[in-house]
Amino acid sequence: MAKPTKQFTQAKKRTIIKEHLLIAPELSNRQISKIIGCSPTTVGTIRQELIDKNAQFGHRHTQDDSWTKHPYFIANKDKLLSKGLSDKSLRALKNKLVLDKMAEIGSLSPRYAQRLLYKEKKLANKDKNITVSEQDVRVFLGDVRTGLPQIADGSVSLCFVDIPYDRKAVEELTPHIAKTAARILSDGGSLLLMVGGSHLDIALNKLTTTDKALKFQWDIAYVCQRGTPLIQGRRVTTAVKHILWMVKGKYDGPIQYDLIYTPPDNADKEPHPWGQSVEGIKCILERWSVEGDTIADIMCGGGSTAQAALELGGRKLVLSDIDPKSVKTTKNLVAKMFGAK
Ligand SMILES: C[S@@+](CC[C@H](N)C(=O)[O-])C[C@H]1O[C@@H](n2cnc3c(N)ncnc32)[C@H](O)[C@@H]1O
Repeated sequence: MAKPTKQFTQAKKRTIIKEHLLIAPELSNRQISKIIGCSPTTVGTIRQELIDKNAQFGHRHTQDDSWTKHPYFIANKDKLLSKGLSDKSLRALKNKLVLDKMAEIGSLSPRYAQRLLYKEKKLANKDKNITVSEQDVRVFLGDVRTGLPQIADGSVSLCFVDIPYDRKAVEELTPHIAKTAARILSDGGSLLLMVGGSHLDIALNKLTTTDKALKFQWDIAYVCQRGTPLIQGRRVTTAVKHILWMVKGKYDGPIQYDLIYTPPDNADKEPHPWGQSVEGIKCILERWSVEGDTIADIMCGGGSTAQAALELGGRKLVLSDIDPKSVKTTKNLVAKMFGAK
């Protein structure tokens, strides 16, 4: 809450008065002067200047003045106005729902009521499958070549990575993925590296020679239902991606079938920007993790792993990518699933 502006310079005070007038022109000069702690004449002068300049009053918010007739505002007008409302508080106060909430909880803080409303709305919008809390999902900007010190040793049960499939990326990044996974995986944890057929040999070689803690377990065929691209140089059309399965220590999870057919994505879902099938990823996560596990995707792209894991429920997540746009997309996707607008 802003303090009365007595301690401000004249120029700053003028700015605050102007801002309040633009937000709530329906308040009288006296009321605004009370909020800010200045004389009504000063407010009147600045209001006139704004009128002369054809300023758009109320353009920072609705011009509707019905909030001033709200019973809670009327009953608490003096207390509210003498509290030194900041511009943000004044904006919040103009919302009938905020005033309703303030009345419900007996609060004189519009921002507090606004925050409560936001939380309630988020909870109502939250994807009903989600059984973990928002604090259980971390998304950050990170380059696998740094080893990702942001992720604690042994804190992850499954590390799923969908690497870029070009030769340079597979060659350069696979050793870093192997090293990072060997560090962050708990004992018996799995690294699943999804890679195209073209550079499978390089990926497997790097995975098996970089860090002794990781042992090759199997190669899983992931059959895509999205066409069969022609790999011209190899004279192959392919429907399969490979998931190279590496284990730290001894795997004692369920028996795994080495074939995954990606089911079609739910028709009501928007296609994923990176084209990875959420339903397909869900099949993988469902088999290689259980509720309570933490899953890492250290090349999370547009967030299909996040969506799949949250829809499955019960899985905590650590997600990172080198690309700020991908991180933002994933953050937004997660926030949306937790009910943000
Ligand atoms: C094939 S995409 C992952 C797509 C993701 N599975 C999805 O469904 O959206 C590969 C990702 O690796 C990221 N990447 C490339 N180099 C990286 C690096 N050095 N460290 C971390 N991420 C990297 C890219 O930004 C890209 O988002």
